[in-house]
Amino acid sequence: MKLMARRAQLQHHQCHQHLSLKALHLWKYYKWILWLALFICLFLTTTTTTPTSYSFLFRPLHLKPLLPAKTNPPALVESRKSSSAALPKIYVYELPSRYNKDWLSNSRCDSHLFASEVAIHEALLGYPGRAVDPNEADFFFVPVYVSCNFSTPNGFPSLHHARPLLSSAVDFVSSHLPFWNLSHGRDHVFVASHDYGACFHAMEDVAIADGIPEFMKRSIILQTFGVRPPHPCQQAEHVLIPPYVPPDIEDEWPAPEKARRDIFVFFRGKMEVRPKNVSGRFYSK
Ligand SMILES: *[C@@H]1O[C@H](CO)[C@@H](O)[C@H](O)[C@H]1NC(C)=O
Ligand SMILES: *[C@@H]1O[C@H](CO)[C@@H](O)[C@H](O)[C@H]1NC(C)=O
Ligand SMILES: *[C@@H]1O[C@H](CO)[C@@H](O)[C@H](O)[C@H]1NC(C)=O
Repeated sequence: MKLMARRAQLQHHQCHQHLSLKALHLWKYYKWILWLALFICLFLTTTTTTPTSYSFLFRPLHLKPLLPAKTNPPALVESRKSSSAALPKIYVYELPSRYNKDWLSNSRCDSHLFASEVAIHEALLGYPGRAVDPNEADFFFVPVYVSCNFSTPNGFPSLHHARPLLSSAVDFVSSHLPFWNLSHGRDHVFVASHDYGACFHAMEDVAIADGIPEFMKRSIILQTFGVRPPHPCQQAEHVLIPPYVPPDIEDEWPAPEKARRDIFVFFRGKMEVRPKNVSGRFYSK
């Protein structure tokens, strides 16, 4: 733990140095700057400053971040103290609710295995480095929830609509603001938290055959899908993120130092048993 905290501190320190350099350098190191940003925003409760008015379409959302702070490692306390001016600026597009919030009408949407697409969106809305003015942004976050169209019989998310929904979101942001066209989406960030991530199909052979949608190939894609590269579904700027675990899990199963317990493993996902049975019995929803 100590080692990890020190490493985080070191990375944090380096991060500051790089941030003071020119955009080129920022660009070069963007992958882990982005990682750091996500790390900070997922683990800190943030004080959301209410931004001043902005254009009607892209005014910031006033959603409260749902993630409570669970830990206070020294490196993070340190970074909280540092000025938010030093953080990479991330602009969060406000898309019509059919791309994201409408899906929350199903209560599983923000708690199931692939809910990091929702959690990261909410965390970025409260992130201290959030850019109110897109002209100041280093990165652009495109919040589309694609994993919440659950099949009634087995509870698995259907991903058929993922490509058309994302493609339509890209049309929306590229027609309303100039930033997508300026970089061809290179500084735009998506979450693809399902199996085989940005290939948007749960079966590997079909996923590989379909590939990453053409319009997303230049973008930065946060995926929970972490096989040893190279994999055709990771051939974009692939950033590996953990699958979603609800923060209140600790209420139900307190940490070993806080309570005696006889279950030591937390499992989310699907057990492959023979004969293969996807009825939902072995699927942790
Ligand atoms: C949800 O998935 C089903 C089954 O694939 C599909 O028929 C339906 O159109 C999808 N709903 C939306 C809103 O995309
Ligand atoms: C971006 O490019 C597309 C396709 O070339 C075009 O239709 C759209 O109007 C452009 N967006 C802006 C804001 O200029
Ligand atoms: C799969 O499991 C369900 C119970 O969860 C059972 O009803 C069903 O018959 C099983 N199907 C096969 C093909 O074994």
